[in-house]
Amino acid sequence: MVASTGTTAREGWSSRSAFVLAAIGSAVGLGNLVRFPAEAGANGGGAFVLFYIFCVVLIGLPVLLSEVLIGRHGQAAAPLSFRRIAEESGGSGAWSIVASLGVFSAFLVLSFYCVLGGWVLYYIGLFGADVFLSGPASGAFAGSSFEEVDALFGAMVSDGLSTSLLDIVFLAITFLFVARGVSGGIEKVAVYLMPAFFFLLLAITIYGMFGGAMARTVDYLFTFEPEKLTGEVMLAAVGQAFFSLSLGVAGMVTYGAYVGRDVNLASTSGVIAGADTAVALIAGLCIFPIVFAAGLEPSGGLGLMFQTLPHAFSDLPFGTLIGLAFFVMVAFAALTSSVSLMEAPTSWAMDRLGLARPVAAMLVTGAAAVLGVLSALSTGALAGFHPLGFIPLFEGLGILDLLDSFTGKLTMPIGALLTSVFVGWVVSRRLLDEESGLGGGVHRFWLFLVRWFCPLMLALILVSGIFPETTARLFATLGAG
Ligand code: PFF
Repeated sequence: MVASTGTTAREGWSSRSAFVLAAIGSAVGLGNLVRFPAEAGANGGGAFVLFYIFCVVLIGLPVLLSEVLIGRHGQAAAPLSFRRIAEESGGSGAWSIVASLGVFSAFLVLSFYCVLGGWVLYYIGLFGADVFLSGPASGAFAGSSFEEVDALFGAMVSDGLSTSLLDIVFLAITFLFVARGVSGGIEKVAVYLMPAFFFLLLAITIYGMFGGAMARTVDYLFTFEPEKLTGEVMLAAVGQAFFSLSLGVAGMVTYGAYVGRDVNLASTSGVIAGADTAVALIAGLCIFPIVFAAGLEPSGGLGLMFQTLPHAFSDLPFGTLIGLAFFVMVAFAALTSSVSLMEAPTSWAMDRLGLARPVAAMLVTGAAAVLGVLSALSTGALAGFHPLGFIPLFEGLGILDLLDSFTGKLTMPIGALLTSVFVGWVVSRRLLDEESGLGGGVHRFWLFLVRWFCPLMLALILVSGIFPETTARLFATLGAG
């Protein structure tokens, strides 16, 4: 119903570059700085990286363009945008459920993402105190053994009070920007923090170059060994690509609703995807030289950032200052992502419940704080609580890991898959021709990708996430045959 246009439709970015920076801010986050290097390390280095780039171009970019296009044409919170476009194209208004699912996923991701944001704040505190106590020129935590530096992480995650409070602090900072609106808050955080982020990333990468381990890093990240490109590696790359581009959670649909008609969506989506990928690659070139120069081997998962890197900083001149700068940079990137995660449910609450923006944002913040505190406690006091442990897919997972798995393996791929089916098969050709900003053959190629290639690949990661063993066996058989 067009009458409930909602307050969001009247808001907008102040310029194309504000939108580009905000969307890059959404895309660049913990996914680039923590998840990408860890996944690249765990999945065969160069083979993963190359296939990742392939996925960004052939799956991520077409779906990103689809999401922004839906938002811009619908001019409302994501579910209403889906409904309007479906009805205009002669389809069922029930397609709005896809966006509602996305909004819900964004809320779930927000709830655990801010816990991780809180952990980053904790490490800023640790490094900040160290700079203060030992002076900026020393290595980090001078006088502490490796075991003691390692133990900082365990001490943090089991300290539920600190991690809960820091989760709430991170959410509150996110709230402050979302509550001020699109041009007054959301784009401000991007316009100030993204340039600061890029500056820190380049500065730390250049610093790492002098450590002498660049050649080994380049070798590690870019040597392509075809035999390492297994089914598992490919699936990890697809999953990483759409998490990194913030797809499948209605976030880019929501941001697209504030884009003016004069913006070329195709080239803009290209800039966003290109910048996100460049940051992921530079993050690898930033982190691994520091790790290798200290004679360490990269560990997988969160250990890379919260244990291996602090070890590495302890060996380096100015390690404590560089460590502080590094975690400040990660916090900036995480904040511009959490803002977009909060905006999707906030704009939904404004449209759907008719709430004023600050009230809507407060409601989302409060609900995310409840789930966030439970997540924060799930690595300590609530460690034994596995809410969906009776489902094999979620066996043994505490709340934090459950939220991560549930969204990463289920709701996000489903959201991205249905979005691409929607654009490929439901939305009218006329509308797509008018909105895409692509010409001739490239436009037809994009249509082919969203109709066939993206749904197929996304269905594959969905199935492999739900039935990992069966898929692994299938790939092994195909490989052998
Ligand atoms: N793309 C972000 C990252 O790489 O950290 C994560 C994310 C942000 C996912 C916003 C989804 C989203 F809507």
